[in-house]
Amino acid sequence: MNNTNCYILGIESSCDDTAAAVIHNGTILSNVVANQEIHTQYGGVVPELASRAHQQNIVPVVHQALRKANIDKKQLHAIAFTSGPGLMGSLLVGTSFSKSLALGLGIPLIDVNHMQAHILAHFIKVEGQTAPNFPFLALTISGGHTQIVKVTNYFEMKVIGQAIDDAVGEAFDKAAKILGLPYPGGPLVDTYAQQGNPKAFKFPKPKVAPLDFSFSGLKTSVLYFVEKETARNPNFISENIEDICASLQYTIVSYLMDKLKNAVKQTGIKEIAIGGGVSANSGIRKALKDAEEKYGWTTHIPKFEYCTDNAAMIAIVGELKYKQGIFANKDVVASARLKF
Ligand code: KG4
Ligand code: ZN
Repeated sequence: MNNTNCYILGIESSCDDTAAAVIHNGTILSNVVANQEIHTQYGGVVPELASRAHQQNIVPVVHQALRKANIDKKQLHAIAFTSGPGLMGSLLVGTSFSKSLALGLGIPLIDVNHMQAHILAHFIKVEGQTAPNFPFLALTISGGHTQIVKVTNYFEMKVIGQAIDDAVGEAFDKAAKILGLPYPGGPLVDTYAQQGNPKAFKFPKPKVAPLDFSFSGLKTSVLYFVEKETARNPNFISENIEDICASLQYTIVSYLMDKLKNAVKQTGIKEIAIGGGVSANSGIRKALKDAEEKYGWTTHIPKFEYCTDNAAMIAIVGELKYKQGIFANKDVVASARLKF
């Protein structure tokens, strides 16, 4: 087996994005994502609809990834797929498809942990960017997770802090819903926040263990605040949307930064990498860049398309495992609550 010159297909289907990507020696040749618009009208992901949409999307998405990479499926050396964590019905589509394809082509199958993939996405070759040095701290912030992970090596990771209730992306989305913004509201809050005054309103930062996060109280305080203000002025939201979003974003970003500062203090590690959909947020990106000068940190922020759910991150983990000869058994199963 020539494992220095391999083509790996990565497949991601853990939530509401059906994605496929081809990687060759650390370089992404194609990265295709089919988003599922269907959930917008329900204000959140509907698991049953997500798995049905994955079934419709998976074949065309994989075809497109191979076509864009300009290779035939017979040239593939292995198939890497997300085995968890995620929605069971969604994971099953990617898992069964990947198993069948690997079996049909007679090539190895590689199972990938979605959360590890958000972290290892930093090892995809990108011009002008350097990968983090070990050990580093990874802050994984998405619609499903909020974690601080100590990364000692590619597959030596330890979760040292996490959300005890809602994930940070969920906090953005739920607060946005209260403000009448469509799902997913995170990017819209970010857009309005950039026009507003972050100190206009004050929201509380929940008190939990130094490296843990809690966001459900923030959502409730936004709800009470909006109810109180709209009782006085029915146009309060529309007249103050920029300032509300800026204040909310400021609270969330400074909360995330407080926790990172605690983690740096506890571990002595100043190399920081972020991942997950919320790392697209302009506030957290700026706060991290500022921390380089302010606290002497080295920070790594992935390219936008490698932040949100994608298959390029699954493909890079596939390649790293392939090169170490770590393969899945034929009887590998999807696991909704997969841990590191
Ligand atoms: O990683 P991701 O694509 O999917 C999950 O695994 O959850 O993350 C999606 C989450 C959503 O909650 C979305 O609102 C949030 O990331 N998000 C943002 C921004 N872009 C995406 N939140 C705040 N600001 C953004 N610019
Ligand atoms: Zn994700």
